[in-house]
Amino acid sequence: MNDTTPAKNADAEIEERKSARSQRPTSQAFKEFIAKDWDDTLPPAKRREVADFTPARLNRLVAEFPNTRLVFPAGVYKVRSNDTDYRFRPHTAFAYYTGLGTDEEPDSVLVVEPSREDPARAEATYFFKPRAGRDTEEFYADSRYGELWVGRRPTLDEVETRIGIPCAHIDTLRDRLAKDVGPELNLLVVRDVDPGIEAMVDEVRGQNSLSTGEQAVAEHDRLAEFASEQRLVKDEFEIGEMRKAVAATIAGFEDVVRHLPRAVAHERGERVIEGVFEMTARTEGNGVGYDTIAAAGPHACTLHWIRNDGKVREGEMVLIDAGVEVDSLYTADITRSIPINGKFSPVQRKIYEAVLEAADAVFAVAKPGMKFRELHQTAMQVIVRKLDEWDLLPCSQEESLSPDGQFHRRYMVHGTSHHLGMDVHDCAQARREMYLDAELEPGMVFTIEPGLYFMENDLTVPEEMRGIGVRIEDDVLVTEDGVENLSAAIPRTPDEIERWMAGLRG
Ligand code: GLY
Ligand code: MN
Ligand code: MN
Repeated sequence: MNDTTPAKNADAEIEERKSARSQRPTSQAFKEFIAKDWDDTLPPAKRREVADFTPARLNRLVAEFPNTRLVFPAGVYKVRSNDTDYRFRPHTAFAYYTGLGTDEEPDSVLVVEPSREDPARAEATYFFKPRAGRDTEEFYADSRYGELWVGRRPTLDEVETRIGIPCAHIDTLRDRLAKDVGPELNLLVVRDVDPGIEAMVDEVRGQNSLSTGEQAVAEHDRLAEFASEQRLVKDEFEIGEMRKAVAATIAGFEDVVRHLPRAVAHERGERVIEGVFEMTARTEGNGVGYDTIAAAGPHACTLHWIRNDGKVREGEMVLIDAGVEVDSLYTADITRSIPINGKFSPVQRKIYEAVLEAADAVFAVAKPGMKFRELHQTAMQVIVRKLDEWDLLPCSQEESLSPDGQFHRRYMVHGTSHHLGMDVHDCAQARREMYLDAELEPGMVFTIEPGLYFMENDLTVPEEMRGIGVRIEDDVLVTEDGVENLSAAIPRTPDEIERWMAGLRG
C-alpha cells in the first residue's frame, strides 16, 4: 500500500517521479461516484476527564505572560524514510495545555491569551484541519489526511466537546495570530516544533514592530521553559494517569518474566523481551514511553543498550528498563535487574543488595523541603561506602564524594533521579533553580534509580563481579510528609523477586 499523492511542498522532480507510480483515477465520473452514498451519522462525542483540568493549567500559564498571545504547535509528521512517516506524537507542552494525546493532531496549533475582560482567565482556541468533505480529493487521495487512508477525522464540534476548548479551522490561524499584535500585545511560540508556524509567528512579529529571528529567541524560549516548570508539580489528573502507566508497565514486566524461557531459547533473546514488553505497551497503552532497554549479561553495563540483539543466558542477569506510555502520554520508567534463571547467585545478590540499600536510603529521606539534588548525594553516600568496602576506590570515601573526586562514577555514571511525566525526562527545560536546586513539593513525580555497573573488561574489579550491571528504578510521588512508591507493586528485594519469578513461571 503506497501513496500516490504528492507530498506537501515536494519539488517538481519528486512529484514527477511519484506520478510515475500514480494510478489514481482522475475522471469526473469517478469523483462523482466516490463523493456520494456515505452514511455520515456521527456518534456523540464525549467530554474527556482532562477537560476539567486544562482551564486551571491555562489560567496559571497566562498569569505568567500578561499581554501576550501564546502559540503551542502540536508538531509535524517526521519522515522515517521516503514517503513513510513515523507515527505522530504531539509536542508535550501542546498535549499538556490541550489535553490531547495519542496521535492528536499533526499540524494543529493551540493559541492562548489572557481574556480582555478578565486577565486572570485564559482564552484559548484550538486550530486544526477538520475532516474534509467527501467531495474533496483530500478524502480519498491524501495519504496523510484523507479518511480513506488514515481513518475517521474529527469535526470542529467533536473536538470542542472532547477538550472543552473552542475550535477553529487551521486556515484561519494566520489572521488570528496577527490580530492586535504589536506594542500592546506580544506574540510568543514554542520553538523547534513546527517550522511553518514558527515562520508565521516571526513574520507577524516583523510586521508589527516586534523583534524577529535571533533577537527574539530568548523571549520565545521563556515560554518553553515555563511550560516545563509548570509541569514539575502534577495535578490530580496527571497523578491518576501516572498510576495507570505504572500499572500497565508492571503488567509488561510480568509478561516478560513469563516469556523468559522463550527469550533464553532464542538467538536474540533480548529482542524477545523487547517485543513482549512492546506488546503490552501497545495493547494497554499508547506504546513505550522510550526505547526499551533489554540488557542481558554484560550489556547491562551499557546504559543506553537499546539494540537489544544479544543472547539471554541462564546464570546471568538481565536489566530491563521499560515504561508504558498511556494514551494521555504519561509514561512510567521502571528498571528491574533480575536473574534469568530465577535465582540470584551470591555475587549477583551482593551487588543487587548494595544498589537496593542506596535506593532505600533515598526513599528514607525524600520529603518536601529536601533539595532535589540531595537525592543523588544520598544514594552516592551508600554507593561509595559499598565500593570502599569492596576496595574499589582509589581514594577515601570523602574524596570520592567531593565535587573534584567522583571516582565512583567509573561504576555509577548517571544521575539517581529525574522528573517523570509526559516525557520520560520530564520538565527538561526547567531552570536549575526550579529543578536540581529546588525543594521537593507534594505532587512532584520522579524516579529513584541508583545502579552499579561493572564492565566485563574492567581490570579494577574482581573477576567474579565483572559483567554485572544492576539498576533498580522506581517511580515516586511526593506526598505531604515523604514519598509514595507508585511502583511498589513490582518486587524490589532479591527474595521477593525470586518468589515473584517462581510464581509467574509456574
Ligand atoms: N529509561 C531512561 C531513564 O531511566 O532515565
Ligand atoms: Mn529513569
Ligand atoms: Mn529508566
